[in-house]
Amino acid sequence: MNRQLITTADGSHSVFVPQLNEHYHSIHGAIQESEHVFINAGLLQLPTAITWVNLLEIGFGTGLNAFLTFLHNLAFLQRHITYTGIEAYPIDPSLAKQLNYVQQLNAQPYEPIFTALHTCPWQQTTSIAPNFTLLKQQTLLQNLQFAPQYHLIYFDAFAPTVQPELWTAAVFEQMYRALLPGGILCTYCAKGTVKRTLKEVGFAVEALPGPPGKRQMTRAIKG
Ligand SMILES: C[S@@+](CC[C@H](N)C(=O)[O-])C[C@H]1O[C@@H](n2cnc3c(N)ncnc32)[C@H](O)[C@@H]1O
Repeated sequence: MNRQLITTADGSHSVFVPQLNEHYHSIHGAIQESEHVFINAGLLQLPTAITWVNLLEIGFGTGLNAFLTFLHNLAFLQRHITYTGIEAYPIDPSLAKQLNYVQQLNAQPYEPIFTALHTCPWQQTTSIAPNFTLLKQQTLLQNLQFAPQYHLIYFDAFAPTVQPELWTAAVFEQMYRALLPGGILCTYCAKGTVKRTLKEVGFAVEALPGPPGKRQMTRAIKG
């Protein structure tokens, strides 16, 4: 798959896939979007009683969400994070090296962490830092069956217009099953059909204000 590096409005990089005419992040700001949708509406909302956080990301991609999770945990939460990233089509290591997230986030001391997110082996649990363990699974999401084990899901698939097969009741049933009671699923997508399907499989669904350039986002909670 041909992939091109682009710069979004907040100065942070994203990736454009010409075949799909789709970006990995909002062109209004990749870092801004990830912080808003996944960190602020997800990670920072977890109850303080959860000291060992089990987190699942659908679409590991550039590793931006994993890196932001690591940085926010270090700065604010100080929990133990076990991060599982599902990715069917990993980006090339040469593309990963060009991403400017370390510079944009002024996180130079943690450059080795960002590098490790990409260089650590697939299908194997790796300790990236004392409080951060990563399991990257290279597979189609549709191939996986989950047991209830996660506190939080970052649902960051391509948009339903591009990838309708990932926004179905069958996939959301898997996501519901994957979460522990009270678990949170966050997504940038605010489409009515997506919210209805999430409700159908049992989630309590909230429409929240979206990041710059988007009116709304969605947060779904397992009752
Ligand atoms: C919107 S991008 C988000 C990437 C990532 N969260 C980031 O911040 O860079 C969607 C990601 O889902 C991956 N993907 C596409 N189809 C998939 C599938 N069926 N199963 C798992 N991952 C998939 C893509 O390769 C891409 O990396």
